[in-house]
Amino acid sequence: MKKVLVATDKPFAAIAVKGIRQIVENAGFELLLLEKYTDPSDLIKAVEQADAMIVRSDLVTPEVIKAGKNLRIVVRAGAGYDNIDLPGATAANVIVMNTPGQNSNAVAELVFGMMVYQIRNQFNGASGTELLGKTLGLHAYGNVGKNVARIAKGFGMEVFAYDPFISAEIIAKDGVTPVADLQDLYSKCQFVSLHIPANDKTKKSITFELLSKMPKGAMLVNTARKEVVDEESLQRIFAGREDFRYVSDVAPDCLEVLKEKFPGRFFVTPKKMGAQTSEANVNAGLAAARQIVEFFENGNTMFKVN
Ligand SMILES: NC(=O)c1ccc[n+]([C@@H]2O[C@H](COP(=O)([O-])OP(=O)(O)OC[C@H]3O[C@@H](n4cnc5c(N)ncnc54)[C@H](O)[C@@H]3O)[C@@H](O)[C@H]2O)c1
Repeated sequence: MKKVLVATDKPFAAIAVKGIRQIVENAGFELLLLEKYTDPSDLIKAVEQADAMIVRSDLVTPEVIKAGKNLRIVVRAGAGYDNIDLPGATAANVIVMNTPGQNSNAVAELVFGMMVYQIRNQFNGASGTELLGKTLGLHAYGNVGKNVARIAKGFGMEVFAYDPFISAEIIAKDGVTPVADLQDLYSKCQFVSLHIPANDKTKKSITFELLSKMPKGAMLVNTARKEVVDEESLQRIFAGREDFRYVSDVAPDCLEVLKEKFPGRFFVTPKKMGAQTSEANVNAGLAAARQIVEFFENGNTMFKVN
């Protein structure tokens, strides 16, 4: 009998676990549950028996892959998979998948929560500004980017997007203006929202040069990964431009410097909150379980990322 391990140091909601169990057991597989573990060796031990594994932000290190002697598939319940040792998995013939789109609306709604909070001066009583009629640049037009565009139109924002892997026609069909290069996106948009994955190309790719192109009242919104922003550039732009604001789902490494030097001009969530809704939780968990069943039953590798 195939064993499916759900390994989550930050557990899924109980209702998601119940749904995952149902899908796994209906397929005739066994569910193994490792929740709230604090020592990576617990994961290494648990994976020894597993044929498949579902994780969230858990670190799937080379040691974990190596310990998974029967492991055929790892599904990251979520979008980003930079927590998984992809080369190691590929070398060991382990398929890695994510569950794209399942938490996109949750992340997109947080973008607006953070933007409104910041342009209203963190609700400190001082008069703020509005989003209506302002320009918003989407740096990447994937699942989250698309949802941000949909909501932005409700706010009456003018939306632009840069994504070299999505055709201009597809972007334009959504009523969003495609732009051909990053310089153009940052020069046009007072608000820029990051939706790129973190990889060798994108890490530290948000530089002083780009940020300094942004119009007056600039706000950078980061629900992608802290690593994509070059933090030296971030500190430099804060120091050079009084009008610059930054809101981010998780703190940059330079948080203490920002706190000390630029109070009130940035907001960071104390923990990663983008996908933390019960809807996203359930959607991603169930999708992961279905993808594992589909893989074993029909060889479906549609969401493979390695
Ligand atoms: N804060 C959170 O909790 C949370 C939740 C989900 C996703 N995320 C982050 O947001 C990112 C985007 O999520 P998604 O669901 O939209 O992913 P996605 O895979 O649907 O979209 C990513 C998009 O980035 C584009 N892209 C890739 N490289 C690019 C580059 N160099 N320049 C411009 N565009 C590029 C791709 O073409 C794709 O359209 C994830 O990789 C993840 O890191 C964070």
